[in-house]
Amino acid sequence: MSEATLFPPIGMLAELTHRCPLQCPYCSNPVELLKGNRELDTQTWAQLFRQAADLGVLQVHLSGGEPTVRRDLEELVDGLAMRGVYSNLITAGVNITEDRIRALAEAGLDHVQLSIQGARPATTALISHMHSAYEQKLDTARRVRAAGLPLTINAPIHRHNIEEVPEFIELALSLGAERLEIANVQYSGWALVNRDALMPSREAVEKQMEIVAAAQERLRGIMNIDFVTPDYFATYPKPCMGGWARDAFMVAPDGTVLPCHAAQTIRTLTFERFGERTLREIWTDSPGFNAFRGTDWMQEPCRSCDRREIDWGGCRCQAMAIAGDAAATDPACIKSPIHARMGMLVADAQAAAKTDKGTEFIYRRIAQVREPV
Ligand code: SF4
Ligand code: FES
Repeated sequence: MSEATLFPPIGMLAELTHRCPLQCPYCSNPVELLKGNRELDTQTWAQLFRQAADLGVLQVHLSGGEPTVRRDLEELVDGLAMRGVYSNLITAGVNITEDRIRALAEAGLDHVQLSIQGARPATTALISHMHSAYEQKLDTARRVRAAGLPLTINAPIHRHNIEEVPEFIELALSLGAERLEIANVQYSGWALVNRDALMPSREAVEKQMEIVAAAQERLRGIMNIDFVTPDYFATYPKPCMGGWARDAFMVAPDGTVLPCHAAQTIRTLTFERFGERTLREIWTDSPGFNAFRGTDWMQEPCRSCDRREIDWGGCRCQAMAIAGDAAATDPACIKSPIHARMGMLVADAQAAAKTDKGTEFIYRRIAQVREPV
């Protein structure tokens, strides 16, 4: 694809670190987590953000791991604010003082997205592997609102908390959130390793969809509820990342620039690090970014499908993980020749749920390297 046909990126996800005090088994980070000594320093992140702004990026999502473990976060936020770039802090909300939140707000932070693992303290402790996480998260939510920052609650949904969806809705309302994201877990990274332990049943998913639809109607104008659909139960896939290298990208803690968080599971592709080339060069000219841009790479049935510029063939990493071919139609699509495999994987997970394999998590830990199943 030539540079002339490219659009500038709008959004960027900056994984500032893989360090995190929590150990959620659904984490989207790669299984091979990077230690702190591999992270870009303050100056390099600041330079990268300046180049992102020059390239057209309007929103930067500061993520991790847990981004607040970076002591330079205020400085990085300040740099973004100076360039007029909207900054969103994606946080687990533990070990954060009131002063820290105030300092981030003063530095120009625009928005906070706080993840909560369960609407009940025991569920949050089970999933996060931290006993006091629930209380700390609620304190953080209140401090965010007290600092005048808009708040989104992110609720990653799986078998162990899908029954708590009505409670999540009430909790988000009570915390003054403007938005609640009911996000069914995407099975990549650590979630793929833990798929059998996390996958909900079809009945639970269907009930959840009814509850969310009714709440969206009831709370219109009061609180927005976004629903991230569960791929394994879908008819058509989501346009993952809005389409490969179409209007957003992410940067790993060591500066590797990627089209999405799981792109490195496609071993046939190589990705470049910021510093080896400029951000503009990587966005416009990297073979890894160009591999699945647009529609020219598509095979049938995507190639002749009238949805090809709606969902862009779905998720390349899910095609890799399940079909073994990153250029295949996402198996979440009903037109995929192996769509039935999704149902079989759900059935396998339900069978595993009755055994130890289905109840034991492999918690996210640095250096606990396992190959995805
Ligand atoms: Fe989307 Fe491809 Fe399925 Fe068509 S065939 S709906 S383009 S994934
Ligand atoms: Fe890589 Fe969907 S996670 S394209």
